[in-house]
Amino acid sequence: MYMVDLIQKKRDGGILSDEEIHFMIDGYTNNRIPDYQMGAMLMAICFQGLNKHETVVLTSEMMHSGDVIDLSGIEGVKVDKHSTGGVGDKTSLVLGPMVAACGCKVAKMSGRGLGHTGGTLDKLESIPGLHVDVSEEDFINQVNDCHLAIIGQTKALVPADKKLYALRDVTATVSCIPLIASSIMSKKLASGSDTILLDVKYGEGAFMKTKEDAKVLAQTMIDIGKSLNKDTRALISNMNEPLGYAIGNSLEIKEVIDTLNGHGPKDLLELCLQAGSQMLMQAHITDNEISARKLLQDAIDSKKALRCLQAMVKAQGGDDSYIRHPELFEKTKEVISIRSQCSGYIKSLNALSLGIVSMKLGGGRMVKDDDIDHSVGLVLNKKIGDYVSKDEVLLKVYTNTGLSKELEDSIYDAYHICDEFVSKPVLIEEIMK
Ligand code: URA
Repeated sequence: MYMVDLIQKKRDGGILSDEEIHFMIDGYTNNRIPDYQMGAMLMAICFQGLNKHETVVLTSEMMHSGDVIDLSGIEGVKVDKHSTGGVGDKTSLVLGPMVAACGCKVAKMSGRGLGHTGGTLDKLESIPGLHVDVSEEDFINQVNDCHLAIIGQTKALVPADKKLYALRDVTATVSCIPLIASSIMSKKLASGSDTILLDVKYGEGAFMKTKEDAKVLAQTMIDIGKSLNKDTRALISNMNEPLGYAIGNSLEIKEVIDTLNGHGPKDLLELCLQAGSQMLMQAHITDNEISARKLLQDAIDSKKALRCLQAMVKAQGGDDSYIRHPELFEKTKEVISIRSQCSGYIKSLNALSLGIVSMKLGGGRMVKDDDIDHSVGLVLNKKIGDYVSKDEVLLKVYTNTGLSKELEDSIYDAYHICDEFVSKPVLIEEIMK
């Protein structure tokens, strides 16, 4: 078999056989196929697409390109959740403890932030001492002990995706639905959980800009999960404004703690209740949404979910006094209030721009190896549908490096204010199974 023949076949709209996909992924992972040929294949896939069967086979080949985690040492149903990423998205850190408190086992591998979206691992690492490099044995023991572990992906997990993602990044082939779906699902499937709940976001601050694309991506991932015998469901959620009020690592951890103490933002809580309900049903803890919501709300009211977070932090070497006393988190040199220049209703709020401001303050990475400042970021005071008076605070900037005119302008440009009443956006568009 020759890679050049496969490239030509896909270029001309042909269907790749199982053997050809195996040849391609195995050859690329093991350096027998060079980047230039794989790059050409990725571009051919972008133009010609992959059918459902090809996408499933590609995912399975990628999943088996490295270690597949064996979670059979954990009793009970292991549930996993994945968000396609957004601004202020701290859902996993609220949802994980909530469903763990209700009896699910959460053995989760998360990622770091790049660009305007934050990463769960970076947020967790704002808790002093906490580490995310955990051996497979300790990971399993921790989930058995406290029902919850959120760690970094091991190096040997889906090596094909590591190489392919880096290549896609530099060949303009990232935004191709079968490639995104196989990239995400290969990692989720290799992480070994029994069920997968996807939060596919759409909007200005998300990877998928339209609801329609988000649905196609969700359906592609559900099809892959089902073909490989995993209960896979998806929420389609709105990311036209940041989730919650906080953007930035320790600021978001404080919001997580507030939410688990029962004082969180409404949108974040609602997303966690809806996602959590699906996860409890996937784990057969209950068979209906009403009782699932009640169990999840009880986990917050009784502080059981907060205790799960605390137990996880402690097990991963973190100082859990920060969970009890969030005022301990390092403070920035300055907190600058940005005040509205006019009165009216917030019509739109550009999540992408605010994510970029937070990144430029030092809260995120422009390139993979950048250091980050865990203490900086933004806390919104007004979101879409809120009324703001002239000179009222729109948001606060937490900074150690002041605020340049450029960033201040970006913040003002992110808010569109109008005279007419604006209703609150719909957060969850659809639940797909
Ligand atoms: N996230 C992934 O893991 N892979 C993609 O291709 C896109 C987003």
